[in-house]
Amino acid sequence: MARILVVSNRVAPLAEGQVATGGLAVGVLDALKEVGGIWMGWSGEIARESGTPRAEQGSGGLSLITWPLSQYDYDTFYRGFANSVLWPVFHFRTDLLHYRDEDYEGYKRVNRIFAEQLRRVAQPDDLIWVHDYHFLPLAQHCRELGMQQKFGLFLHIPFPSDQVFRTIPHHADLARAMAAFDLIGLQTNDDLLAMRDYYERHLGASTSHDTVVLNGKATRMGVYPIGVCPEDIQSLSREHRNSRELIKLKSGLQHRRLIISVDRLDYSKGLVERFRGFECLLDTRPKFRGHVSFVQIAPPSRADVHGYRNLRRTLEQTAGRINGRWTELSWTPIRYMNRSFDRPTLMSFFRASQVGLVTSLRDGMNLVAKEYVAAQPEDDPGVLVLSEFAGAAHELAEGALLINPYDTAGMARTLHTALDMESSERKHRHEIMMDVLRKNSLAAWRERFMDDLKGV
Ligand code: G6P
Repeated sequence: MARILVVSNRVAPLAEGQVATGGLAVGVLDALKEVGGIWMGWSGEIARESGTPRAEQGSGGLSLITWPLSQYDYDTFYRGFANSVLWPVFHFRTDLLHYRDEDYEGYKRVNRIFAEQLRRVAQPDDLIWVHDYHFLPLAQHCRELGMQQKFGLFLHIPFPSDQVFRTIPHHADLARAMAAFDLIGLQTNDDLLAMRDYYERHLGASTSHDTVVLNGKATRMGVYPIGVCPEDIQSLSREHRNSRELIKLKSGLQHRRLIISVDRLDYSKGLVERFRGFECLLDTRPKFRGHVSFVQIAPPSRADVHGYRNLRRTLEQTAGRINGRWTELSWTPIRYMNRSFDRPTLMSFFRASQVGLVTSLRDGMNLVAKEYVAAQPEDDPGVLVLSEFAGAAHELAEGALLINPYDTAGMARTLHTALDMESSERKHRHEIMMDVLRKNSLAAWRERFMDDLKGV
């Protein structure tokens, strides 16, 4: 049987109890645990030179090969082109685009280092599954090294409309390099249409429903919404319903109702908009004052990247202002924490909260939305309030309450509806969403992508 070789910039720690950052690491780790494979990526360390690999064996046939990056490669590849050009532009934030030629050179250089590492390890029949925007030109570099394996790319983040994509200097170069992949997977149909449109209109590619042909080379494209393992999350949240952290949280709440949000501290998540929405709820609906608490868990992310520096300060100020305005001796409206919790604890928090609030201004999928749903008790589920701009809204529109995060009053109205929703409606909505989660599970995501990659 063909081995799976996975490449992503961030790999999840294999040791139990350590926290994986972001949806990608969580998703890939769970997807690979079942089938095994080799997962290659950055070790998270900075060293004198990029690329001395270290191997680590996990359980169930999963092994990791990771290597450090030099300071210069980290600055140009990770902080530079990946997170100051591709991330903001793919999230429609061209105002935060910060381009330098040396960053683009660094991005290509690190992609070549990854290609060389892959060539050392890969066997002829391996299927190579590359993840996310850090490696758009990786397949092309691998082809230049003579590798003939099948290469698939899954983009975890949105693909922007062509006018936005064209703000990236060298966008055509990048897109041509991406066409060296045999299969490109996207989260939603909107992303697929945007990508196809760009190839057709700007590179003169011929396209059909699921294939783009550029200079005689065909690349298949498809929609593969990433999922979760609903049963695992259900049992995790149930087993940890008496966890120490949850008991602490509950004793602070004193039977008040709870709205919860969990995100990396990122400008794409709509955190300030969310704080304002909650403030508007308190402002316009006095009955909730003193009776509802909002817990925001937001571990800091990419703090050294342009565009993130001011966000933390703005959020602290906003939370401080709202709390200053409404806090009573026995009630704090917003508990804002810049730290992470392990997965079981988070799932137990989800289970104990009446509303899960996701307000992304733009998001590839948002696995937190799916995890929130899966963690709910079937006999008394909470309500998911979900931004229409998160990929998850494509699948969960029927069961969640959708919001536009730019509409503060609308968000407050929807939070009100969620907090007052009758049990029968909550159960009905939860069932609808659980059906979707079971159908589009993480295993289904992996199998569909790998089957299509085998078949190209
Ligand atoms: C998102 C991206 C991932 C990334 C993660 C954490 O989920 O899609 O590619 O790994 O954020 O971000 P970081 O920059 O810390 O790796």
